[in-house]
Amino acid sequence: MKMNLPRSLRVSLAALLLLLAFVVISYGRHRQNGSAETQNRPWMNTQLSPDERADLVMKEMTLDEKIDLLHGNGMAGWGKDRPTVHLSNGGAGFILGIPRLGIPSIQMSDAAYGIRNSAANGRFSTALPSNVGSASSWDPVAACEYGTLIGNELRAQGFNMTLGGGANLTREPRNGRTFEYMGEDPILTGTLVGNRVKCEQAQNVIGDMKHYAVNDQESGRNEVDSIISMRAMRESDLLAFQIGIGIANPSAVMCSYNAVNGDFACENKYLLTDVLKKEWNFKGFVVSDWAGTHSTIKASAAGLDTEQPFDHFYAKDFKDAVEAGKISQAELDDHIHRILRSEFASGIVDHPQKRSVIDIEAHLETARKIEEQSIVLLKNSSGILPLDAAKIRSIAIIGQHADTSMISGGGSAQVDPPGTSAPKWLEHIWFPTSPLKAVAAAAPSASVQFDSGADRESAAALAKKSDVAIIFAHQWTSEGMDLPTLSLPENQDALIEQVAAANPKTIVVLETGTAVTMPWLDKVSGVLEAWYAGSKGDVAVANVLFGRANPSAKLPMTFPRSEADVPHPTLIAPPPGSGDHGPEGNERGAKPAFTVHYDEGLKVGYKWYDAENKKPLFPFGFGLSYTTYAYSDLKVKPGKETTVSFTVKNTGSRAGAEIAQVYAALPASAGEPPKRLVAWSKIRLNASESKQVNLTIDPLYLDIYDESASAWKLVPGSYTFMAGASSQDLPLQQKVNLE
Ligand code: BGC
Repeated sequence: MKMNLPRSLRVSLAALLLLLAFVVISYGRHRQNGSAETQNRPWMNTQLSPDERADLVMKEMTLDEKIDLLHGNGMAGWGKDRPTVHLSNGGAGFILGIPRLGIPSIQMSDAAYGIRNSAANGRFSTALPSNVGSASSWDPVAACEYGTLIGNELRAQGFNMTLGGGANLTREPRNGRTFEYMGEDPILTGTLVGNRVKCEQAQNVIGDMKHYAVNDQESGRNEVDSIISMRAMRESDLLAFQIGIGIANPSAVMCSYNAVNGDFACENKYLLTDVLKKEWNFKGFVVSDWAGTHSTIKASAAGLDTEQPFDHFYAKDFKDAVEAGKISQAELDDHIHRILRSEFASGIVDHPQKRSVIDIEAHLETARKIEEQSIVLLKNSSGILPLDAAKIRSIAIIGQHADTSMISGGGSAQVDPPGTSAPKWLEHIWFPTSPLKAVAAAAPSASVQFDSGADRESAAALAKKSDVAIIFAHQWTSEGMDLPTLSLPENQDALIEQVAAANPKTIVVLETGTAVTMPWLDKVSGVLEAWYAGSKGDVAVANVLFGRANPSAKLPMTFPRSEADVPHPTLIAPPPGSGDHGPEGNERGAKPAFTVHYDEGLKVGYKWYDAENKKPLFPFGFGLSYTTYAYSDLKVKPGKETTVSFTVKNTGSRAGAEIAQVYAALPASAGEPPKRLVAWSKIRLNASESKQVNLTIDPLYLDIYDESASAWKLVPGSYTFMAGASSQDLPLQQKVNLE
């Protein structure tokens, strides 16, 4: 058939055909080139999926090479050096590569709020605000920037795996690692940790979430058995991981030290296989917490893929068990497949890490911006804040180290400050970020004087003669310990009382890892929770104090009035004599030595205070701004995906960002605490501006976990949706029926 097409169309068609031919030929050539390049190593063909590539490598591997992937090779400063110690990049652990097959070693570093061990390794690491601090931004975008920075610095330092991504819930606020986690709500935690790890991994590093699971106190962490109902666990601690893993698709999950309902987490089949690998379809590998492995056959069958940082259970014993048929080839291959596919999926094979100098200034800027979004304004009587730099004549800066530095969180999260050598384990580390200098720079015409507060009389005298007193109060916390109380240590309460009595224009800036009690709250004019503020904490705090940044952060955890109000007023401590595990950690056949019954169950954080009618000092979701907001026009549309819309107006005279929160109360028959957070949005508004907020509720967030059916379900009935500024300030409410 002859077609009479116009000439222009014929020309275009011919051009199109030519282009197509070019594309087809070059694609074929690329494949050919690819196959030429990958003739001997077909797994290097990037057109193949990570699973296909892993299977191809696995076919070539000897049993010994497989065993090498299953364990660590020691950790500097802990136990004996292995012969391969020289191949370490100076991190917490490493897995040997297989050079003949082009498989790189996995070099792991702790990276909770920055890269660890930089002093010992002669490198620089940026300290971001603590994790609980950054969670106060409620901002997935900030979480992503956090992860991107860490991923970038890891690679620059020669690492290709992070041991960051703390996702445990603040069930026990005295937990010394609260600063490494994202607060008490599973949806907030899961969303933020998910975005952080997703962006970390996008830098071509193996991402990790930890400590799976219910590792909610440090006291006796290696021998505690966390007892918790299935439903409570699924709807709280595990839900945070479920959401985070769904968002980030991390390559690794670290099982925790403790036992959960009888079995150590690193040999807990329910946690590792039934839930993580089967139900959540996790494709990555499970790495033990450091010396958290207790067995070979049991741990392998339960789903532990690699023992770190040692080789007690997953080296010779593992090989023997495979050879004796006690561990099947298929089980071994599943571990290997998971590790290899993660190496391909995360990009560490195709994009090997390259040592480089990071853009320090840009990273410090990121740290400052995130901290400005993380500082929670808790009290601001008679508008004492922001301070007016043009009017203020004299400022007293009070507090230990407030002339030179700010405190940071310890343990394996510790980031080393510039100008220091490697710290000792559990040393209190002060970052050289000087509040005094930052305040002086922000108020150049004021006289800024310092008193350490060691002598309360002298501090009060300075406060009395100053226009305003700013006290920098701190609480140091760390891995490996819990706090005896939530009071500020070292008589700082008495110092604050005395200074505030001398000058009621007293502002307290808290540098804490978790909640603190505030017996002096009524006597001071302002309180800022700055958390562990990171490498630019001083500047960020000064910017908030002087209104260069308008605070927008909200608490990701409840601040109780006293320890008497928390679910377990007395922290359950390990029995005397437990905790001695020899030079390289946990012994063979160890059993959990004591139990902590998390009988508050579903009532974690604000859910506890709501259900028990306890008034917190500051509720979950609370935080002030230098402007004010009004909420109106709630409309809830029930459906497969319920949508909620409402309007937020900036009723003040400054631009700001409001974290608008939506909670749901489930039908009474669901047997749930009074309400749960189901959505939020951070809305930036100029003075007098209004915006409509439209949110779609993820159906999972309205479900309960039905233990008898081992499944999530929606309880049909009447749901109340509430919107507002905090868990205790919800002016908008609407009831709808959900089926
Ligand atoms: C901590 C982990 C950490 C590991 C390696 C353990 O003590 O619990 O969070 O990643 O050490 O330093």
